[in-house]
Amino acid sequence: MVPRRPASLEVTVACIWLLTVILGVCISFNVDVKNSMSFSGPVEDMFGYTVQQYENEEGKWVLIGSPLVGQPKARTGDVYKCPVGRERSMPCVKLDLPVNTSIPNVTEIKENMTFGSTLVTNPKGGFLACGPLYAYRCGHLHYTTGICSDVSPTFQVVNSFAPVQECSTQLDIVIVLDGSNSIYPWESVTAFLNDLLKRMDIGPKQTQVGIVQYGANVTHEFNLNKYSSTEEVLVAANKIGRRGGLQTMTALGIDTARKEAFTEARGARRGVKKVMVIVTDGESHDNYRLKQVIQDCEDENIQRFSIAKTFLTSYQTLG
Ligand SMILES: *[C@@H]1O[C@H](CO)[C@@H](O)[C@H](O)[C@H]1NC(C)=O
Ligand SMILES: *[C@@H]1O[C@H](CO)[C@@H](O)[C@H](O)[C@H]1NC(C)=O
Ligand SMILES: *[C@@H]1O[C@H](CO)[C@@H](O)[C@H](O)[C@H]1NC(C)=O
Ligand SMILES: *[C@@H]1O[C@H](CO)[C@@H](O)[C@H](O)[C@H]1NC(C)=O
Repeated sequence: MVPRRPASLEVTVACIWLLTVILGVCISFNVDVKNSMSFSGPVEDMFGYTVQQYENEEGKWVLIGSPLVGQPKARTGDVYKCPVGRERSMPCVKLDLPVNTSIPNVTEIKENMTFGSTLVTNPKGGFLACGPLYAYRCGHLHYTTGICSDVSPTFQVVNSFAPVQECSTQLDIVIVLDGSNSIYPWESVTAFLNDLLKRMDIGPKQTQVGIVQYGANVTHEFNLNKYSSTEEVLVAANKIGRRGGLQTMTALGIDTARKEAFTEARGARRGVKKVMVIVTDGESHDNYRLKQVIQDCEDENIQRFSIAKTFLTSYQTLG
């Protein structure tokens, strides 16, 4: 690694006060303008990009934005509080505001949000600090919206706001696998699952996947909320073996998935679109129930896709 030359940006604050004193505003700050004060921080972090004078019960401060703090890995940014007019000189302290700058239930990308690029003091106390490059994720898409936080007079984030919208890409998907003896070879099912699952962004705030397997009866392989990443689901799906069964109770499989797999107890989320993917060879011993079972799914707004055997066979030849 190339040794970095220590660089510093002197933020000379005296001139700011000189200006306010001349203008007759804010005389209460009563700063000794002859002794120029300076605070220093790394220039590569853009320390001093924003500067505000500030006062709370503890005394006077200068707030200094440093939007690239955290780089090169991440440009989270932050705000420093630098004490002014204390008996002993005290260093500037980073406020760590990005930690609590957050919107609930959103997949956030805060790494490069350049927090502290905007700094506005509130005449009623506290201040507002913003990170214009805050983004959030819906599936594979990133939306950069920016974020602002209201900070209390005691330097705590009170609340954050950003124009985020609900991700319409959230899905609860239950895969209903025919594991009866007629399904052969099982590798084609595994190959299909791999291909399907690896394209999904799986997580508690994104798509969730549960799997049931049926033959003569139905087994919950794993629930919607069991795993929280695509990698975990792929590993689990590859461990699923065919349970077998002399009968192929497809209607029972679909009905059980609707009644049990799509419950909140098994991780289904309110207001999230429900999708059922049925993987079967088409043959079924309870066909007479199918019409009613499908209607029940319709009534509960569960969208269904069927993957037929011919398709699975093509997976076998492909893979
Ligand atoms: C943040 O910026 C760094 C450095 O430019 C980059 O390597 C990284 O991929 C960025 N992260 C995101 C989530 O954009
Ligand atoms: C973040 O919020 C928690 C809970 O309100 C608080 O205890 C903590 O001090 C805050 N952290 C920072 C760095 O502001
Ligand atoms: C976030 O999601 C949880 C669980 O889905 C829900 O209980 C909570 O009300 C949500 N919070 C907000 C602020 O939407
Ligand atoms: C489900 O079917 C499998 C395979 O036919 C059998 O081994 C198992 O005992 C059955 N389980 C229940 C609860 O009926």
